[in-house]
Amino acid sequence: TVVVADTGDLDAIRKLKPVDCTTNPSLILKALQSPAYADLVEREIEAGKAAGRSPLEIADALTVGVGAELSTLVPGRVSTEVDANLSFDVDAAAAKARALIAAYEARGVGRDRILIKLASTWEGIRAAEILQGEGIDCNLTLLFSLAQAVACADAGVFLISPFVGRITDWYKKAEGVDGYTPDDDPGVKSVRSIYDYYKSNGIDTVVMGASFRNTDQIKALAGCDRLTISPALLEELAADETDLPRQLSADSATGVAPIEMDENS
Ligand code: E4P
Repeated sequence: TVVVADTGDLDAIRKLKPVDCTTNPSLILKALQSPAYADLVEREIEAGKAAGRSPLEIADALTVGVGAELSTLVPGRVSTEVDANLSFDVDAAAAKARALIAAYEARGVGRDRILIKLASTWEGIRAAEILQGEGIDCNLTLLFSLAQAVACADAGVFLISPFVGRITDWYKKAEGVDGYTPDDDPGVKSVRSIYDYYKSNGIDTVVMGASFRNTDQIKALAGCDRLTISPALLEELAADETDLPRQLSADSATGVAPIEMDENS
């Protein structure tokens, strides 16, 4: 399992040493509150004003600025999200992805270091299919079902991010329960079914479990290709004394031994 940090926080990345990191607009906004990004914020706002850029264009420049900083700290990929309001427009989503990649390349960050994050809507998957054909690797996020996962595999996307926590949150609400054991957790079961389908059908698309609420969900998915985990949960895992969490712990830059998932899961 490759450990991925779900954050734009530079200090957390330095400390936890993930292989990849994933961001989204909320994480970018949170990260930008840090003094570590003060210079970037000042620079981009001043440059944006001077060039007559719109607030959205300045926000995009900041997003890429954060991603470029992150790319200097992780050996692998940085996931950068295309605006959610483009999730139902194939051409606009693809155009935005190309613009983000061009902005990264202008900063000297190659497309091989970036994953373009798109919602797993029908249109998002079609946009990803086009982008993959242009050599732009995509991370299909907001993925809640096997049907979406199969459509992503058919489209040849590089990576999917099936969500755990959000599925479980909805089931908890619908079923009026406080929680589940890891093996009964609906979010965990969803990711396992996708992983098993992919592996038993020889699908290359990488499965990266996301949206975790607790370390039990993470441990239940050890063996998945990648897991993107918040710094808080990575810290909890690193503090755990059992063997499995240590393998999923912060010391991931040196590589994490693959753990076979239960074939029957
Ligand atoms: C990762 O790529 C996702 O953006 C993230 O894990 C979403 O988690 P959430 O359900 O806590 O928003």
